[in-house]
Amino acid sequence: MASSVSPLSPSFFSLLLILISTSFAAAGNFNNDVDIIWGDGRGKIVNNGQLLTLSLDKSSGSGFQSKNQFLFGRIDMQIKLVSGNSAGTVTAYYLSSQGAAHDEIDFEFLGNLTGDPYIVHTNVYTQGKGNREMQFYLWFDPTKDFHTYSILWNPSHIVFYVDGTPIREFKNLAATKGVPYPNNQAMRLYSSLWDAEDWATRGGLVKTDWNQAPFMAGFRNLNADGCVQGPLASSSSCGSKAWMNQALDAESLKKMKWVQSNYMVYNYCSDVKRFPQGLPPECSAK
Ligand SMILES: *[C@@H]1O[C@H](CO)[C@@H](O)[C@H](O)[C@H]1NC(C)=O
Repeated sequence: MASSVSPLSPSFFSLLLILISTSFAAAGNFNNDVDIIWGDGRGKIVNNGQLLTLSLDKSSGSGFQSKNQFLFGRIDMQIKLVSGNSAGTVTAYYLSSQGAAHDEIDFEFLGNLTGDPYIVHTNVYTQGKGNREMQFYLWFDPTKDFHTYSILWNPSHIVFYVDGTPIREFKNLAATKGVPYPNNQAMRLYSSLWDAEDWATRGGLVKTDWNQAPFMAGFRNLNADGCVQGPLASSSSCGSKAWMNQALDAESLKKMKWVQSNYMVYNYCSDVKRFPQGLPPECSAK
């Protein structure tokens, strides 16, 4: 009895099938991973779960949420933003827990007139308190192709990435500076396309042109590798995930500095007028 699974035996093929299907599951399928939660049919999962589209018109936007909730994770998703005149539109991509003292990690993409730059708006809420906005331009046109936007959330820090380049880091300064850090409320992933013409484009100066509707954004290759909470959780495997200890090496810090010196539009930590009592404590951290 050499081996119970010899090549070319039926059990060999079923083993192969299991291996193939699990590797597909790892690549992400929107049918398995998310629910479209609003928009009356304006959100659609197509191509056997490989592509999700959201649309927005005068009567409604649309959105989806992950089936799973996570406590720490590494989320990657490719997004192609609304093209043409997208002024007034906001494509949101964020993690959030529930309740008044909720935690939240936000990417919001603020549209613009044709040819004018999108703004990537980021924020971090801890224990219900945000006011930590940082905004960036991108170094490419985000409406021409899909690009990867990622959130790393582990016990030491939160990092926002664009195509693998870190643009922002929020460190866990709970012990040293008393800044609350999200580490005990599970978060779900949410994404939506909606209208915010009151503030999104040049602070609300440029309104949405509804003649361009419906506005559309595309999503693909969601990879939500998190510590799943709830009945389906197998938390035992979570400590071994590489991203749980992932830090920013010298090269990554250099890249982040490049983005922040060349593409940053707004940084709450430089807005002394806004905080007359002094900048928030995390702003003085090295
Ligand atoms: C839109 O374009 C204008 C002009 O270039 C720019 O000032 C603004 O920051 C851009 N983005 C948004 C979202 O308003």
